[in-house]
Amino acid sequence: MLDLARQPLVRVDGLKMHFPIYSGVFRSHTGDVKAVDGVSFDIAQGETLGLVGESGCGKSTVGRALLRLYEPTAGRVIIDGEDVAHLSAEKLRQKRPTMQMVFQDPQASLNPRMTLAGIIGEPLDEHTRLSRAEKTARIYELMDQVGLNRRFANRYPHEFSGGQRQRIGIARALALNPKFIVCDEPIAALDVSIQAQVVNLLEDLQDRLGLTYLFISHDLSMVRHLADRVAVMYLGRIAELSPAKDLYARPLHPYAEALLSAVNEPDPVIAARRKRIILKGDVPSPANPPTGCNFCTRCPQVFELCRQVKPELSEVEPGRFVACHLYDNNKAARSTGGPEATERNQQGAST
Ligand SMILES: Nc1ncnc2c1ncn2[C@@H]1O[C@H](COP(=O)(O)OP(=O)(O)OP(=O)(O)O)[C@@H](O)[C@H]1O
Ligand SMILES: [Mg+2]
Repeated sequence: MLDLARQPLVRVDGLKMHFPIYSGVFRSHTGDVKAVDGVSFDIAQGETLGLVGESGCGKSTVGRALLRLYEPTAGRVIIDGEDVAHLSAEKLRQKRPTMQMVFQDPQASLNPRMTLAGIIGEPLDEHTRLSRAEKTARIYELMDQVGLNRRFANRYPHEFSGGQRQRIGIARALALNPKFIVCDEPIAALDVSIQAQVVNLLEDLQDRLGLTYLFISHDLSMVRHLADRVAVMYLGRIAELSPAKDLYARPLHPYAEALLSAVNEPDPVIAARRKRIILKGDVPSPANPPTGCNFCTRCPQVFELCRQVKPELSEVEPGRFVACHLYDNNKAARSTGGPEATERNQQGAST
């Protein structure tokens, strides 16, 4: 489980990813889709951080901006000591092996014209100078690691089942010994019976290889099982970031509470306490978010300040970060300022 004394491998600070909107006859820049609008968190070495939230809240955009598959609009993304958001093209190329992605749809992310060995070997060709024999040995090793039979090395993606294809995607992601992997809904496209196998594989690989995961999912039960801590996103911002067990037992942010109220609760004590909260209205457009708190148009506990001032993500209980004015008093008592501030406090406390 999570050990807070460990150094963060990933540190995200004020990440923004805005997509420009062009309209009118002259295709002029008339606004921005604020898909990610000021997100900060860190992930410890070997930790799994879950990232949850409704469709369109910006989860995949966070994952892609982190790995610089998008050019972030603002913010820093420190991965293993280097700011990925600001690396030069060549430095970024050298950095690529450290950070990889496993995609939702292995069908779409695998080249149908390449054999399994070709697909897994491609990153090796690009980033290493292995001899032919060494490369084959490495491909076999990767296939063993993800439970693919070596006999399949010369088959094509369409000859495999969904679960097997996801194993190919995982083997490819592992080829260059990454430290950090973004898993973007890696099981959402799979049969329920196969999902657990792939999750077990990911957990197993994490233990064996010391991997750090950002695990994106809208399956809250799966995230509960997998993640050390969970960040709940709403409309491009993090509403709450808490250790998984605390979040599921007692969500602090009204949005997290509403989201979790729909999840089956195995613990009868917690289940008895929980009431189903059905939110009214629609999620506002990320091109035109509310002035104050992004959740103010739907929050059951909204008050005046919420419509005027955006709440910052602050530590309101030890290890628990919430962006909500309901907790302003707790914030005053504790030091404010996001995950970095906590660490400073911890360091301060230990000296
Ligand atoms: N390339 C793009 N150009 C313009 N808008 C985009 C682009 N990619 C995403 N968006 C918008 O950004 C917002 C966040 O999208 P994103 O795909 O990150 O959400 P998500 O949380 O991953 O959703 P889902 O659960 O459906 O996968 C959405 O409003 C989406 O329409
Ligand atoms: Mg997505």
